[in-house]
Amino acid sequence: MALERTFSIIKPDATRRNLTGKIVAKLEEGGLRVVASRRIHMARRQAEAFYAVHKERPFFGELVDFMVSGPVVVQVLEGEDAIARNREIMGATDPKKAAPGTIRAEFAESIGENSVHGSDGPETAKEEIAYFFAGSDIVG
Ligand code: CMP
Repeated sequence: MALERTFSIIKPDATRRNLTGKIVAKLEEGGLRVVASRRIHMARRQAEAFYAVHKERPFFGELVDFMVSGPVVVQVLEGEDAIARNREIMGATDPKKAAPGTIRAEFAESIGENSVHGSDGPETAKEEIAYFFAGSDIVG
């Protein structure tokens, strides 16, 4: 096991329903520590660049429209195997397939409006953290 950092977003469907605290509680109860956090309203070009890897997907436009539809909370999470741990706590992308007790099983509205994002690997985690946070913003 290794102490890792991962990147997390609490998405607009969750901030709209005032679920930030409930989601952070699940992350913390799951063994992760919030070492940086900021509530922002993403600019369209920022969301497009963040999700550039998906730009050929049919849902890209819908995804960007949704991510700029309201405030989000961008966070850095730290813990043992934080990348995999966060993905376990979030549950599957499609809430219908998410395990009981996971964030997406409890809170997500659909595959698109699925309450949270989490990095899928070490390289992505590094890039996504650097996209939103300077090293000095992260206090472990
Ligand atoms: P996320 O982990 O933020 O990474 C890419 C996002 O694309 C994903 O979560 C979903 O919210 C979204 N997504 C994936 N598949 C679909 C789909 N079929 N329709 C709409 N949005 C999707």
